[in-house]
Amino acid sequence: MCEKRGAGRPGQRDLAASPTAAAHVRASHTHSEAPHRPITSFVHHRSRLTEGQQHAWDRWWPERGRDVADLLGGAQPYDPPSWFGRTAPLVLEIGSGMGESTAALAAAAPDVDHIAVEVYEPGLAQLLMRIAELGLTNVVLLRGDAVALLRERVPPASLAGIRIFFPDPWPKRRHRKRRLVQPEFVALAASRLAPGGTLHLATDWDDYATQMRSVCDAEPALRNTAADQPGGWTPRPDWRPVTKFEQRAHHEGREVHDLIYRRT
Ligand SMILES: C[S@@+](CC[C@H](N)C(=O)[O-])C[C@H]1O[C@@H](n2cnc3c(N)ncnc32)[C@H](O)[C@@H]1O
Repeated sequence: MCEKRGAGRPGQRDLAASPTAAAHVRASHTHSEAPHRPITSFVHHRSRLTEGQQHAWDRWWPERGRDVADLLGGAQPYDPPSWFGRTAPLVLEIGSGMGESTAALAAAAPDVDHIAVEVYEPGLAQLLMRIAELGLTNVVLLRGDAVALLRERVPPASLAGIRIFFPDPWPKRRHRKRRLVQPEFVALAASRLAPGGTLHLATDWDDYATQMRSVCDAEPALRNTAADQPGGWTPRPDWRPVTKFEQRAHHEGREVHDLIYRRT
C-alpha cells in the first residue's frame, strides 16, 4: 500500500467520507436496510505535504488539477479537450502514486494526453513537481475515486488506455473485497476503452496477478495480448518505468507480472 504520512491538511475534503466520490464498488445494505459504508479500493488519510509539495500544489493545482467530487457533482465538466486544448488519444491511470510512471510515460508520448487519478495528495503534489520540471502539457491530475469517475463521467469507448500499476494488494483475506480488479470493475473499465484500447495491469502479488488474469480472461470485451506467452503474462515492457513499489518487490523476492488486454 502507498505510504500515508502525517495528518491534517486544512481545507481538504474527506473523499472517503464523501457520498459521491466514494459511493462505488458495491454499496451493500443490511437486512434492516441501514446503509453500510461503501467499499472502496483505497483508504483516504489526510496527509501533510512537504514544503516543496505545498509550493507545487499552490502553484500548479489550480491549472492542472481537478476534484473528482466537482466533476461528479456538476460543479465542473469532465472535458478533456478543453483541459488539454486539443483532442488526442487519452490514457487514464488509476492510482498514479508518486507519479514516477505517469511523468515518464507522458514525457515519452507527447501526442497522447494523460489523466492521473489518485486520492493521495502528496503523490499528486509530487507529480505536479515532476510535470513542472519536465514542462509537460499532456498531464491532468484528478483527485478522488477513479471508479466513480469512470462509472459516472467517462463516456463509453472514449479511452485509448487504462493503466493500473501496482494497485493496493489488500493481502488479508478479509480485505480482498477492496481489491480494485474484480469482475464488475473490469467490465466497467472495458466499456470505457475504445475498440483497440488497452488495459495494462502490473502487480507484484502472485495471487492478485492470478486474480487479475482470470477476471480479465472472463471479460468478453477483452483479449489478452500475450495469450500465447507462458502463463499468459506480458513480458515486462521496458518502457514501463521501475517505481519504488517494483524495486521493493525485487528486494523482497517477489516477481512482477504485467498483463495487457485489448478491447475487442
Ligand atoms: C500501491 S500504490 C501504487 C502507486 C503507483 N501506481 C506506483 O506504481 O508506484 C496504489 C495507489 O492507488 C491509489 N488508489 C487506490 N484506489 C484508488 C481509486 N479508486 N481511485 C484513485 N486512486 C486509487 C492509492 O491511493 C495508492 O496511492
